[in-house]
Amino acid sequence: MSKKKKVEPTILTFKTAYDLMQERQEIKRYPTGTPIDELIGGGIEEGEVVEFYGEYGSGKTQIAKTLAVMVAGIHNQHVFFVDCEETFKPERIVQIAKNRGLDIDQTLKNIHVLIPVTSTDLMAVLDNIPPEKQPKLLIIDGLTTPFRVEYIGRETLTERQGYLRKFLYDLKKWAKKTRTAVIVTNQVYADPSATPFLALEYRELAVGGHTLYHAIDSRIFVRKGQGGTRIAKLVDSSCYPPAERPFRITDKGIEPPQEPKKDKKEDVASATEQHDTPTENRMN
Ligand code: GTP
Ligand code: MG
Repeated sequence: MSKKKKVEPTILTFKTAYDLMQERQEIKRYPTGTPIDELIGGGIEEGEVVEFYGEYGSGKTQIAKTLAVMVAGIHNQHVFFVDCEETFKPERIVQIAKNRGLDIDQTLKNIHVLIPVTSTDLMAVLDNIPPEKQPKLLIIDGLTTPFRVEYIGRETLTERQGYLRKFLYDLKKWAKKTRTAVIVTNQVYADPSATPFLALEYRELAVGGHTLYHAIDSRIFVRKGQGGTRIAKLVDSSCYPPAERPFRITDKGIEPPQEPKKDKKEDVASATEQHDTPTENRMN
């Protein structure tokens, strides 16, 4: 029987909770001005890994692009966007930045895009992010796509999960070490063993399954709602309580849903009020 190679332990040092608290206070949070902030403590946090999962067309990529624009445009920080689904178009970045009144050139220059051709490329991504750029956000849009394309059939599942597990382990360690926020998006498949009584977010499983859970700090389920509205629901988190927020996809990327329109009677009343406003209060 082969013996496990003996590995020398690293230097083990306990830290007080007080010291850890001091370290925590140095960690920055970047508000994005989107409904997502309300799910994750007010903005994306350095070193935290957040997964958005949901069905095709639910809005995961639009969330990712909007958060990229906000970090690059408002906070003037470098964002690395790994586009495993080949859907990145700079025109959409320009549109979101323009409609939010941001500096378009600054936003475009701060977003670095890479399309990995294979899962080996994807796993090499962390070694190819220049540390001197001090990345603040790494987005992997379609995390499991390269693995799904290459590993087909049940007999390859163990190998695929092994690589995915290793990559996620490295990703989490890298995020904490470099203090970079990480966002991954992931597709779902229907859980064949789920009963129809379960909530949708538990009937639809993220590809990669439990392998992902240990490496991810917060998991957000995204789904289509009624009348073009979408819902982002924080399903599982080591830091925040469960919550959900509606949003819609617009020229500004993602935004809160529109206020419901006033009924006609109210419109007439408000028009009458305006008519009655004294002339000196008008702004013409
Ligand atoms: P998959 O990657 O296929 O799993 O889907 P996804 O969850 O990433 O969906 P995505 O974020 O690409 O959302 C797709 C939806 O966003 C489309 O159905 C459109 O309704 C909307 N959308 C995409 N581009 C634009 C755009 O430029 N403007 C607006 N207003 N909506 C857009
Ligand atoms: Mg997508």
